[in-house]
Amino acid sequence: MKTSLNPKFDQKVDSILSLMTLEEKIGQMNQYNGFWEVTGPAPEGGDAAIKYEQLRKGLVGSMLNVNGVENVRAVQKIAVEETRLGIPLIIGYDVIHGYKTLSPIPLAESASWDLDAIRKSSEVAAAEAAAAGINWTFAPMVDITRDARWGRVMEGAGEDPYLGSKIAYARVKGFQGDDLSAINTIAASAKHFAAYGFSESGRDYNTVDIGTSTLYNLVLPPFQATVDADVKTFMNSFNVLNGIPATGNSFLQRDILKGKWNYKGFVVSDWGSIGEMIPHGFAKDGKQAAELAANAGSDMDMESRLYVEHLAALVKEGKVKESVIDDAVRRILTVKYELGLFDDPYKYCDEAREKAETGKPAFHEAVLDMAKKSIVLLKNENQLLPLKKEGLKIALIGQLAADKDSPLGSWRALGESNSAVSVLEGLQKYNGNNLRFEQGVRLTDETPVFIKETKINTTDRTGFEAAKTEARRADVVVMVLGEHGFQSGEGRSRTQLDLPGLQQELLEEVYKINKNIVLVLMNGRPLVIDWAANHIPAIVEAWHLGTESGNAIAQVLYGDYNPSGKLPMSFPKTVGQVPIYYNHNSTGRPGNPGGDIVFWSHYMDAPNEPQFPFGFGLSYTTFAYSNLKLNSDSFAKTGSIKVSVDLSNTGNYAGKETVQLYIHDLYASVTRPVRELKDFQQIELQPGETKTLVFTIDEKTIGFYDNDGKWVVEPGDFKVFIGGSSQADLEAEFKYNDK
Ligand code: GLC
Repeated sequence: MKTSLNPKFDQKVDSILSLMTLEEKIGQMNQYNGFWEVTGPAPEGGDAAIKYEQLRKGLVGSMLNVNGVENVRAVQKIAVEETRLGIPLIIGYDVIHGYKTLSPIPLAESASWDLDAIRKSSEVAAAEAAAAGINWTFAPMVDITRDARWGRVMEGAGEDPYLGSKIAYARVKGFQGDDLSAINTIAASAKHFAAYGFSESGRDYNTVDIGTSTLYNLVLPPFQATVDADVKTFMNSFNVLNGIPATGNSFLQRDILKGKWNYKGFVVSDWGSIGEMIPHGFAKDGKQAAELAANAGSDMDMESRLYVEHLAALVKEGKVKESVIDDAVRRILTVKYELGLFDDPYKYCDEAREKAETGKPAFHEAVLDMAKKSIVLLKNENQLLPLKKEGLKIALIGQLAADKDSPLGSWRALGESNSAVSVLEGLQKYNGNNLRFEQGVRLTDETPVFIKETKINTTDRTGFEAAKTEARRADVVVMVLGEHGFQSGEGRSRTQLDLPGLQQELLEEVYKINKNIVLVLMNGRPLVIDWAANHIPAIVEAWHLGTESGNAIAQVLYGDYNPSGKLPMSFPKTVGQVPIYYNHNSTGRPGNPGGDIVFWSHYMDAPNEPQFPFGFGLSYTTFAYSNLKLNSDSFAKTGSIKVSVDLSNTGNYAGKETVQLYIHDLYASVTRPVRELKDFQQIELQPGETKTLVFTIDEKTIGFYDNDGKWVVEPGDFKVFIGGSSQADLEAEFKYNDK
């Protein structure tokens, strides 16, 4: 009995399937990268010619990295008009945080905790990409991670599964909308399934070896949230999970995803990950890799070419049942129907729409709004910020201050190089002050690019004197320091998290001359800024904010937007603390016994605490929490407790606060973290205003997965904390009785 994937299309899918040869079915499971300039002549000779022939024979089901209406129409025309059955291609692309009008990198967006803004950002990305012929994005990346050495932290939502799940849901809904067949929505892809964010030592593509509690309580919940949001595809991951490559991992793809979660979409492999099972030491050759991947539930092969080469023989040899092929093909065809591609394969190919939609002002407004909300104020001594709008001599220092490219980040899709508004350009729109720019130090000797390493300048100090001269004359120094746009992202792991190159040296040199420094960080990951945190009066975390970066930063520095971001990842004091995260377990020796006794869980040369904790972020105003109350000190099965707290704006600016609720399950059958984020609310308050917020604690709040992956809710004693970060200090206790 075939499982129904979508009752609206099951019959159509099955009728096409009944017409397909085995080779044509396998063709639907085959995805190629754009392999020739489609507006030019057909490729002659070599790989491209083989692929072209396969495309014309209906042996290609999808392509990626074919962009623009003209190019998409050209390949779609071959699939629809030259092949025997005319099955349209699904066209995928990495629309991670924007197509051409780029929003902030996902880690930055996550710092906004603003689910509506994040959803809007994905809607804009989908609309602009769909207008250019794209109907499938390889996003959202929902990998939880605690290791800022890993370059791909920029692509996700940080260290917490609750925040990560809420954001994953919002992103899928943003990309797919409520009607996937609409011309401004695209299929999303939950990736990388699973546990890629736990790559050992933060080194990309490295081994993943995690316990079941981490798998069930940290890694899987955001993926489950995407299934709840009806995500149409999953992408598996390069890594092994406990010795078995995700691509060949039937526990993940069949038992959990298609079994327990009853998932109806399809799974695409990550680039070449089927073939990578050979170097992993899991498959002896390409043919066995194809067999293992297909039987484990990988439905589509991204660019390893092993399905189109081996699956037919494997079926004939009985090593892969044709029912496995049929299931994969039904899933793929169903998504193509849901996108409306069978009704009109060229629906995403409208040059006039592409022209009208690309880069339109409404998209710029949306990504600017997202960028402002993504900025986190980490320090602001003596109210150095916001800057006065007139009468100031401001020295702007640092190559990144004039950099129009780095803010686009490393997953920039079709974002044009140097198309971002720089900090210099943003500040120049405020003309009441005397603003002078000096690069001071440049990060790289050449323009960074997507696939290559870029050498960091560690010797050229020739810009220091000019920068120091400007610092000497200035009332305020704004230093923009951090990482260039390709120092985070795929393949960009670092062993150090400090300011790269000579930036720290320049910062300290300038500090000797003028202590009135506003440090603006432009980076793709948490950094170690211990010296700055102890010396620099004002620090703004500005990430890589996308196309409108400079405008967002300027509006925050001048107080036209009161920063409201909260960190989605802990900032370490030193890289030796990594992995560092707030939702850690207690251990058997959590507390310092005093008297310099060493036998407790600590370092001899650093504290356990981070520089800046998860959930932390300041405002130009101040907020006070008081009056934490529970309407009961216990609840029983199916019951709940109401928790209320008063929040006051005790400062001089209107501001938005993200009020966070954490719990601690004091003892359980599986040890639980000392704190777990379980709810949050955002609220805007005028100066002097106080409001009462109410939260609900129920079984969903206190349940967890046991080591068999079963959801359990256990009787016991709990603490609840409410505040403006994971170090919230307002607390109360409650019990749960399961009677
Ligand atoms: C890359 C990435 C994946 C991306 C895919 C297609 O290697 O791991 O996230 O979607 O290939 O570009």
